[in-house]
Amino acid sequence: MKATAAVLYEPKKPLVIEEVDLLDPGPHEVQVRWVANGVCHSDYHLMSGDVPHPLPVVLGHEAAGVVERIGPGVESVKPGDHVCSSYIPSCGKCGYCIGGQPTMCALRDKPRHLMLDGTTRFRKGSTSINHYLQVAGFATHSVLMEESVIPIRKDAPLDVACLVSCGVLAGAGPVFNRAKVPPGASVAVWGCGGVGLNTIQAAKLVGAGKIIGVDVMPQKLAWAEEFGATHVVNAATEDPVARVQAIAGSGGVDFAFELVGTQATIEQAVLSTHRGGTAVVVGVCPAGTKISLDPTLFLQQRVLTGTSFGGGHQRTDVPMLIDMFMGGKYKLKELISRRVPLTDVNLAYDALLKGEVKRSVVVY
Ligand code: CU
Repeated sequence: MKATAAVLYEPKKPLVIEEVDLLDPGPHEVQVRWVANGVCHSDYHLMSGDVPHPLPVVLGHEAAGVVERIGPGVESVKPGDHVCSSYIPSCGKCGYCIGGQPTMCALRDKPRHLMLDGTTRFRKGSTSINHYLQVAGFATHSVLMEESVIPIRKDAPLDVACLVSCGVLAGAGPVFNRAKVPPGASVAVWGCGGVGLNTIQAAKLVGAGKIIGVDVMPQKLAWAEEFGATHVVNAATEDPVARVQAIAGSGGVDFAFELVGTQATIEQAVLSTHRGGTAVVVGVCPAGTKISLDPTLFLQQRVLTGTSFGGGHQRTDVPMLIDMFMGGKYKLKELISRRVPLTDVNLAYDALLKGEVKRSVVVY
């Protein structure tokens, strides 16, 4: 069949919106009609060339849609089911999945731009086109591995639910799963965009005490306050470490979350914690980034850790967050600044880089 997709052929060039061929789903594969895909910064690392990747590729990894067809052997979904994409697949069988860390699933050791048989389902003429993170959400239709889709309730609006497939769970999950922030704890959040606002919201939900949003854009600090920050720090005009320590008292915060993905912000997040505090890295750094920290910080029992896709159980965390949204307990609609057609996806990335939007969503 035909699909319309946004294809990256070359870094630093706009995505090409074009008709491509989509091959039938193979064994244990699912064909999905996407309804929406969120405009996430991670794709931009490929567009800018910061993160090298096999090209061409259909980008997009924050998608929700409806299952249209299933290949032989698929048991977990059927045509008509609503699904979110899972940019980290979980097989349910490997040591990681059984051991309670399905975001570390052994399938991550396979090439992340190909189906499990080592081929792709997109073609342009005779050219094979890769699937970003085995999702390819910037397309009207895609084929995914069964392990890459998460069934969700049918009454949830898919143009909102798609956000949970990356940014929402990536931001909120570390609070619930990795840091397990207890009521009353002090929290600092480096980066108050579409992901960090979820860290702030989750910290508020678990009853954190001081919640300090740190960013360099005044607009993002205003959003941080909307989503539950009790204090904000403009790192463009003040020393964020000293300021966070002063607000927190007792030497620093209990928990710092880093969602920017740079050497400086990771180091600042660690330095802002008190002795015995915890810093969690969520932001994706450009390839080759290194950090430099005095080991004494860790003799003082600080913990530096990180997460992928929330660091919990994606197959249950995604439906849980959607349930919370449907029950009025979690803000998702408020994260969406713009809805755009696929033809405007390049403009949506311009807006993201300028800090104009919390999240844009491409709606098909
Ligand atoms: Cu993402």
